[in-house]
Amino acid sequence: MKNVVLIGFMGTGKTSTGKALASRIGCAFADVDQRIERAAGMTIKEIFSQKGEACFRQYEKDVVQELARHKNFVISTGGGTVKDPENLALLQQNGIIICLTASLDAILSRTEKHGVRPVLDAHDHGDRRQAIQELLDSRRGIYAQADYTVDTSMVSPLQVTTDIVYYLKREGILHA
Ligand code: S3P
Repeated sequence: MKNVVLIGFMGTGKTSTGKALASRIGCAFADVDQRIERAAGMTIKEIFSQKGEACFRQYEKDVVQELARHKNFVISTGGGTVKDPENLALLQQNGIIICLTASLDAILSRTEKHGVRPVLDAHDHGDRRQAIQELLDSRRGIYAQADYTVDTSMVSPLQVTTDIVYYLKREGILHA
């Protein structure tokens, strides 16, 4: 089976949905952020603060290049992974791209903890809501390139998983 690649903004549930989906359809699971942390031997927060975003994006690119070689994976990307068109193209080669979205309020409450999401912190000049809105606006076109989109605002990762499974069956990607 093709890989199933989850893209979307921070706080849309890519990791929890990815895990649930992988176990539901019997695929391996890979989380891009987790693999970056493993490769770097430090947390995302530490990479950003000690080495900078460019270094983080290079790790991200390396992880995508490695993962794109596989099949039968559910891959949860980081919110900025597909900002790089080469990353998106690689993931599209043998993957179906699913975008998770959420309302501004849902993203706001799911990303409340400062320090965990350095890109959001860097845009936050005292107004978290505005920082999210601006970043969302700048990335809307990128996420719109997905094959299928699910709004996760009001539903659990398990419900999102069921929605994605229906889609994959409908498209003949997943067989019953
Ligand atoms: C980022 C999102 C994060 C992580 C890094 C950069 C972004 O992943 O990759 O902090 O640029 O949106 P999540 O979407 O899993 O929070």
